[in-house]
Amino acid sequence: MSKDISSTGVSGGIDWWSVLSDRDFLANPYPQLRRLQEKGPVHFDPASGIYFILGHRAFARVSKSSSMGRDTRNWLGGWNSDDYRAHDPVGYKLFSEFQPQMINCDGEEHRRMRKVYEPAFRAQAMSRMAPLIEEQAARLLAAMPDDGEVDFIEAFAAPLPLRVLCELFDIPESLDETISRWSASLIRIGDILMTPDQKLEAQAALAEFKDFLREQIRARENRHEDNLMGLALHAYKDGTLDEEETLTNLVSMLVAGHETTVTLIGNGLLLLLRNPAELARLRTEPALTRTAVEEFLRMEPGGNMILRVAREDFEVEGMTIPRGAPVIGLIGAINRDPARFERADELDVARPANAQFTFGGGAHFCIGAPLARLEAQIAFSRLLEKYAHIDLAGTPEWRLDRMNARGLGHLPIHVRKAA
Ligand code: HEM
Repeated sequence: MSKDISSTGVSGGIDWWSVLSDRDFLANPYPQLRRLQEKGPVHFDPASGIYFILGHRAFARVSKSSSMGRDTRNWLGGWNSDDYRAHDPVGYKLFSEFQPQMINCDGEEHRRMRKVYEPAFRAQAMSRMAPLIEEQAARLLAAMPDDGEVDFIEAFAAPLPLRVLCELFDIPESLDETISRWSASLIRIGDILMTPDQKLEAQAALAEFKDFLREQIRARENRHEDNLMGLALHAYKDGTLDEEETLTNLVSMLVAGHETTVTLIGNGLLLLLRNPAELARLRTEPALTRTAVEEFLRMEPGGNMILRVAREDFEVEGMTIPRGAPVIGLIGAINRDPARFERADELDVARPANAQFTFGGGAHFCIGAPLARLEAQIAFSRLLEKYAHIDLAGTPEWRLDRMNARGLGHLPIHVRKAA
């Protein structure tokens, strides 16, 4: 969770928060991340008490170790401390009302919650989702011009994951806009650039979202469905989850699965447009779509930061991370670590054994990764099938208002259909 930007300063020659929130950095973080990585794989910032991981080997150990948890309530001096509560009561209320949820707890508590939802993302469930994703992708592509200009984010990258998620949750299309608004407010939680007004807005969104889901669950009380809402209802009824846990996990899944996937599809297309030889290769070898999507995830991860909180003292690359200390993996650096990846800054749609960390690692590895991957694979397959020509039609606009997410607000393109 965020620390106030005013509590930051220059340390060890690096003013971390100024670097990470700088507009030029947000517009293109990779050269600066490489410079920081060259200074070492693990850094400690005494000003904020945070350990930053930039090396692939170091993050592989940190992300997968059971000594390194994800429960931010254990962060000594973090949002759950008396100091933080006194200093930022609005932030405290927001964070505490979004508990407990699987991403924010460890051990048995985490396993109990995660197990409830895992069946919704298994291979069999994904086979059931595929025709639905195909249908939504086809519908959006049919509404795009055969020859003309379009904002790819607005026309395709944003609506596809939203509709797919709402289908997964069995939420009618008439509510897409409301869900999108709630999700946009809540995705900012934990970002250091979140303003007090945005915290209040997120608080209102969370309350409305929970009320809505409470109603949805009540309305399904006597139905026996094997979809995601059915799994939630079953776990609530048999006492595996209490009401708060049921609601926070559902909200969290809707929020975690939306913008991240928009970003994957939007950033992925921009990578292809900036690397025409790789785009041509993908067109001639569509079977490379799977490895291409992994490479988009590696090159432009969208989520820039993955958090851990040490459950006990933990040693990595000669540095001891003490119990209760927060650790942030800077994924843009980790995924391009030249010690792990050949031609680390080059897009290679056929890159073998792509050990990108965009979905995290260990016990908290993204539960929705199979769905995001499937959606992106279908999206790119159908897009390239329909359009023989796709070109940039203006300057892509990165959203620069967040530190932990890097995605496009607008991507103007010119498309022309295959003859
Ligand atoms: C490209 C799309 C996505 C990206 C980049 C992404 C990324 C992540 C990351 C980095 C984590 C934390 C992993 C860690 O701490 O080691 C995570 C966890 C999670 N993600 Fe995703 N995610 C995506 C899509 C989705 C989707 C589609 C859903 C659900 C519909 C989802 C639901 C979750 C949940 C519930 C967790 C918490 C898992 C746990 O704590 O056990 N995500 N995701």
